[in-house]
Amino acid sequence: MGTTAVSPDRGVKVRATKLMIGNQWVESVSGKTFETVNPATGKPICRVSEADAADVNKAVSAARTAFESGPWPKMAAAERGRLLYKLADLLEANVEEMSRLETLDNGKPLMESRNVDLPLSIATLRYYAGWTDKIQGRTIPVAGPHICYTRLQPVGVVGQIIPWNFPLLMLAMKIGPALAAGNTVLVKPAEQTPLTALRMGEFILDAGFPSGVVNILPGFGPTAGDSIARHMDVDKVAFTGSTEVGHLIMEASAQSNLKRVTLELGGKSPNIVFADADLDQAVEGSHTALFFNQGQVCCAGSRLYVEGKCHDEFVKRSVERARKRKVGDPFDPATEQGPLIDGTQRDKVMSYIESGKIDGARLMCGGERKGGQGFFVEPTVFAGVRDEMKIAREEIFGPVMSILKFSSLDDVIHRANDTDYGLAAAVWTRDIGKAIAVTNGVRAGTVWVNCYGAFDPAAPFGGFKQSGMGREWGEYGLQQYTEVKTVTMKM
Ligand code: NAI
Ligand code: MG
Repeated sequence: MGTTAVSPDRGVKVRATKLMIGNQWVESVSGKTFETVNPATGKPICRVSEADAADVNKAVSAARTAFESGPWPKMAAAERGRLLYKLADLLEANVEEMSRLETLDNGKPLMESRNVDLPLSIATLRYYAGWTDKIQGRTIPVAGPHICYTRLQPVGVVGQIIPWNFPLLMLAMKIGPALAAGNTVLVKPAEQTPLTALRMGEFILDAGFPSGVVNILPGFGPTAGDSIARHMDVDKVAFTGSTEVGHLIMEASAQSNLKRVTLELGGKSPNIVFADADLDQAVEGSHTALFFNQGQVCCAGSRLYVEGKCHDEFVKRSVERARKRKVGDPFDPATEQGPLIDGTQRDKVMSYIESGKIDGARLMCGGERKGGQGFFVEPTVFAGVRDEMKIAREEIFGPVMSILKFSSLDDVIHRANDTDYGLAAAVWTRDIGKAIAVTNGVRAGTVWVNCYGAFDPAAPFGGFKQSGMGREWGEYGLQQYTEVKTVTMKM
């Protein structure tokens, strides 16, 4: 068990604060620890052991041993499923504690931790638990006197690097398919949000996973993260985070052992509203598409294209809605928006707001920091945004809505695609022809019609272009954790 520290915040008990390697809670080799901070107050919650290269080496060796010998590789597939179901049950039995811990460490509203992050994490683990004994190859009709079939085998030891915006959910999306396919993993949570991953480590032990199958290493990107990406004995790295670091991960793979790489990166997703849409739904849906999770969402609808005919009315209603958005204490059930994750992200968002003003976008509401403590930023809406402005091209990752005007279908599809990103898109219209034209024409991994951010573990998610490589969730997500083996036998 990890050490026990009682947090001064909200009576949320922090139980696990060490590294989990080979089913043991251990201090880091260096003995170093780092602080994790409550974003609503800016004050430290507790200290957590800090992994670096030496700890990564230990964890890789535990994961390698677990992959090659011991109970895990011999275990019946359905038994792996049973362990994953058990883990989901343990998470479900502790929903209240885990929701509060996530809100304490990340700052997201408790209502969202409880109603979005936790249920989706549990559903993801169950979805992949169900796959374990349904991972099948094919029989191939080859020429000549041969029998040919394929098997889908685990990739091996997998490093998984997690961001801070959905700490527990991203963890479930990574370990679910990796374990279902029979891999062993080392997980590096983001340095801002290690606490729910560590508590999950205790559930993993309680569920009965064999030693070394899951290893958890809180630490920083350039040290722990980079050692994972460069390690010669890691077979695959799965990363979610910035496009900038995505490039570094690919380079590290190229410079080491060509480990498999899957990436879920940034976005600048177009959200297209036609004048024939149900305007009430489009306003509310577009509000959530951008402001959900303080705007810290890779697929946020951050380029809001509105057809000229309904533009002014849409802007008016969107500004009214943003002004009503309740910002404050994330533990208050009425709160819709909490703080940003840290001072760095807050300053980055504020500098984008400045750049929007300088470039001549019309600031309709918000635009300022909020409150005396914590990392709060007001819900902000810019109208009159043009495609070439920085706020229309770069990922802001904060509560800043940019509204752009368009006049025709062809024009808006062309402009929607004029970006390095391709994660998601949405279209609001009652005209099925327009909906199909946009879903066909936009180069993005997910397109929503008359909704936004509708997620399901069964539906693949991931990016075109520089928004990523590979997919998470669904059968595609599982395949990313398998290698195809072709077996040919002479008759
Ligand atoms: P980041 O990409 O630096 O961090 C994400 C994860 O990668 C963390 O676990 C971090 O420790 C790790 N990491 C950082 N540098 C690494 C390296 N050299 N090698 C291996 N792992 C490394 O993102 P950051 O700095 O927290 O946020 C910057 C921007 O990235 C945000 O403003 C946002 O635009 C974007 N972002 C996108 C996310 C997404 O969901 N796609 C999630 C988080 C950030
Ligand atoms: Mg970074």
